Amino acid sequence: MNMQLLSARDPGWTEWADVIVVGSGIAGLTAALRLKDQVERVAVVTKDELKAGSTQWAQGGIAAALGEGDTPAQHEVDTLVAGAGACDLEAVRVLVGEGAEAVRELIEWGADFDKDPDGNLSLTREGGHRRDRIAHADGDATGAEIQRALMEAVRRAPEILVFEHAMVVDLLTATDGGVAGLTIHVMGEGDADGVGIVRTRAVVLASGGLGQVFSQTTNPAVATADGMAIALRAGATLRDLEFVQFHPTVMYLGEDSRGQQPLISEAVRGEGAFLVDWDGARLMEGVHELRDLAPRDIVSKAIMKRMLETGHPNMWLDARHLGREFWERRFPNILASCKQHGVDPSVDLIPVAPACHYASGGVRTDLWGRSDVPGLYATGEVACSGVHGANRLASNSLLEGLVFSRRIAEVLPGELRQLEDPAPGLGAGRPLVPGAALKQLQETMTTKVGVLRNATGLAEAIDELEQLGDTPATEIDPAAWEATNLLTVSLALAKSALLREETRGSHWREDFAERDDAGFAGHFDLRLRDGETVASFTPAPATDPKTTTMAGA
Ligand code: SIN
Repeated sequence: MNMQLLSARDPGWTEWADVIVVGSGIAGLTAALRLKDQVERVAVVTKDELKAGSTQWAQGGIAAALGEGDTPAQHEVDTLVAGAGACDLEAVRVLVGEGAEAVRELIEWGADFDKDPDGNLSLTREGGHRRDRIAHADGDATGAEIQRALMEAVRRAPEILVFEHAMVVDLLTATDGGVAGLTIHVMGEGDADGVGIVRTRAVVLASGGLGQVFSQTTNPAVATADGMAIALRAGATLRDLEFVQFHPTVMYLGEDSRGQQPLISEAVRGEGAFLVDWDGARLMEGVHELRDLAPRDIVSKAIMKRMLETGHPNMWLDARHLGREFWERRFPNILASCKQHGVDPSVDLIPVAPACHYASGGVRTDLWGRSDVPGLYATGEVACSGVHGANRLASNSLLEGLVFSRRIAEVLPGELRQLEDPAPGLGAGRPLVPGAALKQLQETMTTKVGVLRNATGLAEAIDELEQLGDTPATEIDPAAWEATNLLTVSLALAKSALLREETRGSHWREDFAERDDAGFAGHFDLRLRDGETVASFTPAPATDPKTTTMAGA
């Protein structure tokens, strides 16, 4: 691997690349690997180590119609049902149609998925899937295996330049509004003096999600909405931000626990675990025909409802009957994580509560990953390709990164811009909030923009967030850049959540309890105008499978 030590540069250094990929999970590394033979200079920039993003934490797996008797059409139906009428049908068809081939390529690149005794891929089921179609690796370490395979493939491709510990501060545009470069800070290199410029002809954002907006999340600490914020500042549109998915079964560690929380994969329910309340009653009985494997939003809501009714801070997952041997073989990492917190799941109930897991919205893209800024592409969780709608189907996220990065690599080389000079004055001196604002921001977002929302709380949240923005940072450092990015995106999220006066998918309004297609079939788009985030509504027909299913589903 060609590791470039940016820290060796003088302050104010400049570099160049044909394409800069921001982020090093499945979406970023796939894009880099597919682009490397097509352009002269591809660079991957990541603000931590190459492996630090969300991909390596994925437990359950990657969904694709790989099993006997399964078809893209059936995967499409399940994706649309989970998406609650808000998916983009064309994008879903791309995802499910190209998914199996993309997973096969991943296997060619070295990803080693679990097999059954006959040597076929071992496929499991998760919430919302009516078929076994989730490929997994090392039982419950799918993301880690994919990350390993991709990192090794990148190591075998020394022409890909890799910049670790390099935080992208801003996108720079040329006078025509298209991409011209990035400002990058080398982590640990003091204040703004450490910022240099990488000029480039295209940027692929693959920088992950916004999980750190909330106090409890399954996302790693690096998920600070940087990609969404820099894209917004550069003129891109953010879409569907209000659709933040809360994973139903995140291990409850007490109300004071903050930051990344241990995930108990849906695959555990896929293998037969079930939810119970404090009296031992089955929680999902009578709630949905798929019971514990209902789409994620439905399970999260059932848990939250019972928590609110009973005043308990958590419910329980019962997986005792799976037995110790099964736990050790199928879910070794989840077992270890439970044990680390004093729970033996073959003997004890696991305390669980919903926590922030995934941003279904993000930088709006077309079917080829293009944003509306020329030369700026987005893929993976940072993007809103339209495949997830109001609620992502389990294990479609790794697949989305894979499929749309391949698509970007198909069109980008033919669309490369000239190397342009950044327009003067860009990226300099914008107001920042201090890193210390993060705690209050997370508190506000968790209590007022979390799983259960209403107009009063959302309006209060917007006020509180705006007030946070009134206290400027006295120091310019990565914590201030991250807190400012989170604040920008939190405000946009809270504004679209307030405007969407209905309940749909993962957006749950207690004051508007029903889905309202007449008023809200479509998307809230957010853009920056004169420093203010402005929302507009783009109507789109509801995409429910009963009216849109491909023949043969
Ligand atoms: C899980 O394993 O439950 C998470 C998988 C996903 O988010 O798709």
